[in-house]
Amino acid sequence: MLDSGSVAIRGEAYVDTFWGPDFAWLERADPEVAQVLLGELDRQRDGLQLIASENFTSPAVLAALGSTLNDKYAEGYPGRRYYGGCAQVDRAEQLAVERAERLFGAEHANVQPHSGASANLAAFAALAEPGDTVLAMDLPQGGHFTHGSRVNLSGKWFHPIGYGVTPNTEEIDYDEVRDLALAHRPKVIICGATAYPRQIDFALFRDIADEVDAYLLVDASHFIGLVAGGVVASPVPYADVVTCTTHKVLRGPRGGMILCREELAQRVDKAVFPFSQGGPMMHAIAAKAVALREASGPAFKAYARQVVANARELAVGLAREGMRPVTGGTDTHLVLADLQELGVTGRDAEARCDLARIVLNKNVIPFDPQRPALASGIRVGTPCATTQGMGEAEMRRVAELIGAAVRSDPGTTGGASRLADVADGVLELVRRFPAYARQEVMA
Ligand SMILES: Cc1ncc(COP(=O)(O)O)c(C=O)c1O
Repeated sequence: MLDSGSVAIRGEAYVDTFWGPDFAWLERADPEVAQVLLGELDRQRDGLQLIASENFTSPAVLAALGSTLNDKYAEGYPGRRYYGGCAQVDRAEQLAVERAERLFGAEHANVQPHSGASANLAAFAALAEPGDTVLAMDLPQGGHFTHGSRVNLSGKWFHPIGYGVTPNTEEIDYDEVRDLALAHRPKVIICGATAYPRQIDFALFRDIADEVDAYLLVDASHFIGLVAGGVVASPVPYADVVTCTTHKVLRGPRGGMILCREELAQRVDKAVFPFSQGGPMMHAIAAKAVALREASGPAFKAYARQVVANARELAVGLAREGMRPVTGGTDTHLVLADLQELGVTGRDAEARCDLARIVLNKNVIPFDPQRPALASGIRVGTPCATTQGMGEAEMRRVAELIGAAVRSDPGTTGGASRLADVADGVLELVRRFPAYARQEVMA
């Protein structure tokens, strides 16, 4: 049963962030959901959030998300809607589009995709017909399931061919990409991955696509924030179409976005609406506009630099703990670590870390001898910790904490108490760098 007294007290703690009045309202209207929000805030604050695809978005982005723009139907595009009353939401969408085009130097932006998966679906629809061949990175080698996995529409309705990484460098095998492209003449070549720590050579992908007259689709979901911050190369000059999420390093609302050349603009817009989506989520689009403005400033450049510096330091620290960074390191925000030397599966590592307040995910590594449910690796990322203000010194500590957790089997004598010690260490660290602290709001 809900203890309303404690909710009121906890509610004050929540008010001390920035939801203030809105939260008090929710607390009165629906104490059960209010409790969930409090619980999640606690979870985010009292643990180390190392999921590479997550971030703590800003109070301004959350304010736009929790706004009355949620209420508005606006099928269509600015100036061409199927509903009246769209003057304000038109402005929100124009701002988001203009900011995206300016920030990424793109000829055209569509900010309506509800998610990364929706953006990819629309890109497939814009560039290919069912049955066409697409060449993309294999899922077990780091690719994403929306790039042609059999469990996804992309793999059922299109004919996927997979490329991978070389066994020695664990980096993309560009020779294989070219050989497969020449052999299969794909309509679309896709690059961009979900567990690949290195800078992708977009110019080389462009050359290969040109050689076989294919479209080049870059899914920049993971690294678009690093492109915004100027710390990894931009795919925009090379790709026909760039898809991405807006909620990873970019630190925006949950959602998707598509950038493309002007000549593909109409096809992309039609592929989003009406082909694959209905009414756009105008609150999310306003929040994307806010995030894009934030990502255009000098503070975001410094943030992006720190994200990568932190990931590099974390890779070094994990190696010291016996967890080999796949490819030997990282150019981005994420590290894929091989745990085989420690004799611990990714699944057990994830569970042990969870007991120690460290949130990360198990991940297959290239040529993994384990099945995906067990996996030989973990994937960790630095967007959240960097948003909290942590730097390289903290990353050295984070690596030690992960190492101690992964080595502690809760089923053995002393294992559980060692994990409890690690959890104390995590708390000590995160309390010094609180997520959603009041200072951040006032700054
Ligand atoms: C490379 C890549 N593309 C697409 C997606 C899908 O994004 P969403 O979960 O918003 O559909 C992800 C999500 O992690 C991703 O990593």
